[in-house]
Amino acid sequence: MLEVRDLYKTFNAGTINEKRAMNGLSLTLEDGDFVTVIGGNGAGKSTLLNLVAGVFPPDSGTISIDGQNVTKLPEHKRAKFIGRVFQDPMMGTAATMGIEENLALAFRRGQGRGLRYGITNAERKQYREKLAILGLGLEDRLTSKVGLLSGGQRQALTLLMATLKKPKLLLLDEHTAALDPKTAAKVLETTERIVRRDKLTTLMITHNMRDAIAHGNRLIMMDSGQIVADIRGEEKQNLTVQDLLDKFHVENDRMLLSE
Ligand SMILES: Nc1ncnc2c1ncn2[C@@H]1O[C@H](COP(=O)(O)OP(=O)(O)O)[C@@H](O)[C@H]1O
Ligand SMILES: [Mg+2]
Repeated sequence: MLEVRDLYKTFNAGTINEKRAMNGLSLTLEDGDFVTVIGGNGAGKSTLLNLVAGVFPPDSGTISIDGQNVTKLPEHKRAKFIGRVFQDPMMGTAATMGIEENLALAFRRGQGRGLRYGITNAERKQYREKLAILGLGLEDRLTSKVGLLSGGQRQALTLLMATLKKPKLLLLDEHTAALDPKTAAKVLETTERIVRRDKLTTLMITHNMRDAIAHGNRLIMMDSGQIVADIRGEEKQNLTVQDLLDKFHVENDRMLLSE
């Protein structure tokens, strides 16, 4: 579903701020793979997701999604098969619009049907059903402005919107990191439910090793723009935080990778 080959990306090349963020990374995800991604600050995790989403082009290397080489495809043309949720709860939704309007935009994405067509009662019924999955009572607040919701509610709504049209790829960049622990756990549980239900091919960056171990069928660890560990199957199922600490000598990163 995703094939990344020999990806290189250097920021601010030739300046004192030169930074090689992606250093020959290759990665293949099978259809339905749910991969958690860990690594210290600056390891290149967000850069990888940005390259896959087309936020900026790689210096060299190729990116294919579902067999199509998208390396030169601009971000907005990839958006129709990619769902994304970022760390910042303010980013994925439009604050001044209602919950139903946000959902309508997500539903109509790529159909050339904007909001001026109005929302039908049949659509409202569908939105209520989708919102109920989140378990936050948002199905009874369809016209509430999104700006009035808590960070966790907004992040759950963003997740719902990102997965409505069953994307070929779901990219999550520390999407629960800005939430309080209880809300984070709830959003993560909802993530797990939706990803499993729709068998979404998913890359989920987290700074939390327990979450990285508890979720997904595969775990990759990044360092200096490369994959330094790729753990799956039974090894992944039996993995402990201590294993990760021992195996990768990341004791010094305890501050960065919370248990
Ligand atoms: N848009 C950018 N411009 C300049 N440098 C960047 C940019 N994005 C990332 N970097 C740099 O690339 C390196 C990798 O960053 P990033 O991918 O955000 O790491 P991570 O998400 O693993 O913490 C860091 O040194 C970071 O400062
Ligand atoms: Mg990051």
